[in-house]
Amino acid sequence: MLLVMENVLGADEVQEFRAALAEAPWIDGRASAGTLSVSVKDNLQLDDRCGVAQRLGNRILSLLGRHPLFISAALPNRFFPPRFNRYAGGGHYGAHVDGALMYSDALPQAVRSDLSATLFLTDPADYDGGELAIETPFGAQEVKLAAGDMVLYPSSSLHRVLPVTRGARTSAILWLQSMVRDAAQRALLFDLDQSIQSLSGGRDPADPDLLRLTGVYHNLLRAWAET
Ligand code: NI
Repeated sequence: MLLVMENVLGADEVQEFRAALAEAPWIDGRASAGTLSVSVKDNLQLDDRCGVAQRLGNRILSLLGRHPLFISAALPNRFFPPRFNRYAGGGHYGAHVDGALMYSDALPQAVRSDLSATLFLTDPADYDGGELAIETPFGAQEVKLAAGDMVLYPSSSLHRVLPVTRGARTSAILWLQSMVRDAAQRALLFDLDQSIQSLSGGRDPADPDLLRLTGVYHNLLRAWAET
């Protein structure tokens, strides 16, 4: 499932992020690439220990923690801290699958990457190329979003970033371990939760059908969730 979430950051927040990132110390992105992806990665990123990256990353996690659509879709258990990257001058990231287990000195244990997210920070009019191309069962989908919008996609999918041929593309990426490991189960819970929320609009909260459906949601979550 690919899920686009609009306005995760508002226009003012995007400007604030971009101003902070313009002054930040960018390094070669190959520093954090695994042995398989090092040959296909050509971008800049901030070191995970960089203060700007940590401060802005925490802001993103705090916003997502209060985002009902994100919670409903991802059912997050553990996060790998957001990483900031920048592509310019033909920079790209060839086809790869994200590493399954992600380690950081800042985390007590590894994070299994069930879902990846890219938060776009540059207005699409300011650069050419730079689409995030994600392989899906229905073919490749190219994603290029407004600044402040985010796409959530399975970490298991083959994906790449096409070369940026004009301007520069800055974004944040993050990975998370979901409480529900199985993507099909997670998708069923998401559909059910969204339908319950939609049906409950204007209905008596004591409506027996609504109560039964809500019970089904929680009992499925109880059966499938790991914490
Ligand atoms: Ni990736």
